[in-house]
Amino acid sequence: MDDIARMAGVSKATVSRVVNEIPEGVGPETRARVLKIIEDTNYRAVNFPKQMQRSKTLGLIIPDIGNPFFGELAKAIESYASEQGYTVLFGNTDFSIEKESKYISTFSAKKVDGIILVTTAQKANESHKYLKKYNIPCVLLDRLLSGIEYTAGVFLNNSYALFMACSLLIKHGNKTIVFLSGPKNISTAAERVLGYKDALNQYHIPFEERLVKYGDYTFDSGYQSVMELEREGIQFTGLLASNDTMALGAMQALKELSYRIPEDIEVIGFDNIGFSLLCDPPLTTIQQPTIEMGRKAAAIIIDSVNRSYSGPKNIRLQPKLVTRRSTRAL
Ligand code: RIB
Repeated sequence: MDDIARMAGVSKATVSRVVNEIPEGVGPETRARVLKIIEDTNYRAVNFPKQMQRSKTLGLIIPDIGNPFFGELAKAIESYASEQGYTVLFGNTDFSIEKESKYISTFSAKKVDGIILVTTAQKANESHKYLKKYNIPCVLLDRLLSGIEYTAGVFLNNSYALFMACSLLIKHGNKTIVFLSGPKNISTAAERVLGYKDALNQYHIPFEERLVKYGDYTFDSGYQSVMELEREGIQFTGLLASNDTMALGAMQALKELSYRIPEDIEVIGFDNIGFSLLCDPPLTTIQQPTIEMGRKAAAIIIDSVNRSYSGPKNIRLQPKLVTRRSTRAL
């Protein structure tokens, strides 16, 4: 307070009136000058009223900025947040839970007003519980995380998405369909496996564990999964991937093994990233409402900072199936 009073050329009592929003005895110019100094110095006195302690900064934590899906998601979040006058600090965890924990504590120490988390973990750890302890609102985006107290979550209806994709391949006459899944411990991957099983069940095709390969949502894991299926001598005519980057890796491997797409093997991806339109043949895939998901998550966290979020705890947005030439026309 003393520093601010000296820098503004006013008394400590005047600074206190500004901080506590007492109009008497403070002219508009003085108020503006004091507020500017508070903002510029990022001065935060613990007894400031809540509204004065806001940094107008959000933390965004995502697993892989190299994946275009997350790039589009981050862009949507930043765009909405900046429209509302917020700055977004960004952390890329590279699928590391340790890095996720480090970003949570770093952003908290930097007094972000709230955190949007696309988690790499399956179960909350001490750092996730830190958010509740220090009353930092958290919105879960894309992936569920058990054991964390969060404001709200924005997710996709993942199981229905895979149900749609797998049903399309079955309607095309495919009886042996492999599924390249993301990591077992990630909720989106687990939900997509359920959708795959539901579709097989719906059409009375037995589920076979040997037809599911678990990767890590990367191009290379899609490529390696196909090579592994080939080495195991598994014959299949339909391939589903838990995201487009795995599907692109799988397509590369199928071509190297001289399979024709879709004549020999039909392929469906997930995310509808830009490359899915540019690959040869263009990839049939699941469209995520990525921009809507990002903007909704940003809106919820900003509302909760202003203590005004009263919407649903978990929001499930709907996918769309985008058919292109990596699957045969019906
Ligand atoms: O491409 C990355 C995948 O992991 C996306 O499908 C997204 O849903 C995330 O869970």
